[in-house]
Amino acid sequence: MAVSVICIAAALAVLVPGARGLDRRADFPPGFLFGAGTSSYQIEGAYLEDNKSLNNWDVYTHTQSGRIMDGRNGDVADDHYHRYADDVEIMHNLGVNSYRFSISWARILPRGRLGEVNSAGIAFYNRLIDALLQKGIQPFVTLNHFDLPHELDTRYGGWLGGGIREEFEYYSNVCFKAFGDRVRFWTTFNEPNMNTKLQFMLGVYPPNRCSPPFGDCSGGDSHREPYTAVHNVLLSHAAAVRNYKTNYQAKQGGSIGIVIAMKWYEPLTNSTEDVRAARRAQSFEVEWILDPIFFGDYPREMREILSSNLPNFTSEEKNLLLLNKVDFIGLNHYTTIYAKDCIYSPCELSTYESNALVYATSGNPQIGKPTALGGYYVVPEGMEPAVMYVNHRYKDATIYITENGYSQHGSTNMADLMNDVERVNYLQGYLTYLSSAIRKGANVGGYFVWSLVDNFEWSFGYTIKFGLYHVDFTTQERTARMSAKWYRGFLTGSSQLTDDEAQEPLRRADS
Ligand SMILES: *[C@@H]1O[C@H](CO)[C@@H](O)[C@H](O)[C@H]1NC(C)=O
Ligand SMILES: *[C@@H]1O[C@H](CO)[C@@H](O)[C@H](O)[C@H]1NC(C)=O
Ligand SMILES: *[C@@H]1O[C@H](CO)[C@@H](O)[C@H](O)[C@H]1NC(C)=O
Repeated sequence: MAVSVICIAAALAVLVPGARGLDRRADFPPGFLFGAGTSSYQIEGAYLEDNKSLNNWDVYTHTQSGRIMDGRNGDVADDHYHRYADDVEIMHNLGVNSYRFSISWARILPRGRLGEVNSAGIAFYNRLIDALLQKGIQPFVTLNHFDLPHELDTRYGGWLGGGIREEFEYYSNVCFKAFGDRVRFWTTFNEPNMNTKLQFMLGVYPPNRCSPPFGDCSGGDSHREPYTAVHNVLLSHAAAVRNYKTNYQAKQGGSIGIVIAMKWYEPLTNSTEDVRAARRAQSFEVEWILDPIFFGDYPREMREILSSNLPNFTSEEKNLLLLNKVDFIGLNHYTTIYAKDCIYSPCELSTYESNALVYATSGNPQIGKPTALGGYYVVPEGMEPAVMYVNHRYKDATIYITENGYSQHGSTNMADLMNDVERVNYLQGYLTYLSSAIRKGANVGGYFVWSLVDNFEWSFGYTIKFGLYHVDFTTQERTARMSAKWYRGFLTGSSQLTDDEAQEPLRRADS
């Protein structure tokens, strides 16, 4: 479908804040990080190159391709391993001052701590980090974004086995030692609260463990294993933080945090039950991870509902947590949803929030416009209470919005994929409410769009698109979407999208 160039140019004039003489970047504090994010398995490809070993996602996508929506995998993905220099150039053009990426554990320690450090893996991230710094882009590095060496998955049952803690501490130490002289921002884990539920409660991420009513897996216990896994994640995290703070921070001068997934929950009705349900859902999402880190134990609501399925911390472990606080909290925030109580009224109890005895619903009328990702609606105003909530509860911490972004269906026609007005509106809306939270006193240090480029979106394969840049996975060509141009305008203060640039996506769409 052809869309007239004039139409697009007019749309850009309306959407680009610079075009209206606004520069909302000025609403954000000096030194604020503005970036975009990716993760290793989702973009690197080169899955067996330079002595990298197979990781859990390599094995899973190869053996159970039927569980990936398009049957595909990350063997090549964005071929970023070979094209990182071009991607850094793209970021430079975009005008970001930071880039969030993750390190592939299987590239650094193909066999875990019982094997050798892979110098080719170290060399790759050295090249990437140096290229970023040369362009004035701060690396914002995640140590674990869902992928771990297959051998460790087998040896320990992934995050279920206590032995994984020593492995993670060892791996993180190798990274601090190799890269910490240049990395100012470390995060230990990405979204352990979501990852472990998808792995061990709903059973839709490897190692696909679950039990009824959550799902029908060949093994697992949905009522227990997610909590065991998070317990090991938290203790792995704390050990890595202790090591960083004791042995590296003073001389390297960086900071360290953790990234969690955070929806905002609105009560479906004003009943006391639903108001409590919304609060409880938040507790099972946010406090599950952050309360142990800040206060040394899981929240009371979780203890009451889960009783003996929730592990206890020994007093030594509590001290490890309490004495090694994070320097900042990363929030991946995309959406808001209604929470309905399931203690006093019957509900289906096999969904993501069921463990909190909450049913999440989009409501009627829907809470916001749907996106390509099921259950994720466009609700920009949810950004503000989410940030204020975390700011209020964990007073000492700086917050980074480590992910926020909009997904399109891959089946969308090319012109609409490129002229992604909905993504521009989404980002603009969420940034507006983020700046409002900052004006109300929230301590926020940065914001990262998910994602820099279209990539392998886990169970969705390549069927949904989050990129500011479109990627043609046949040619690996990256093309700026309207949203990339908008972000560049926002970041550089320059609205100067020439006619040529405005037409570029259309030419590609027509060809
Ligand atoms: C991979 O490992 C082998 C065996 O240790 C070594 O000889 C080779 O140089 C390594 N390759 C790279 C690219 O480092
Ligand atoms: C809940 O109460 C608020 C304020 O009193 C009101 O604006 C809102 O419409 C009510 N929501 C529902 C679902 O009844
Ligand atoms: C945790 O400790 C409490 C008592 O302090 C006990 O009742 C509970 O069973 C323990 N939980 C586990 C998983 O051991």
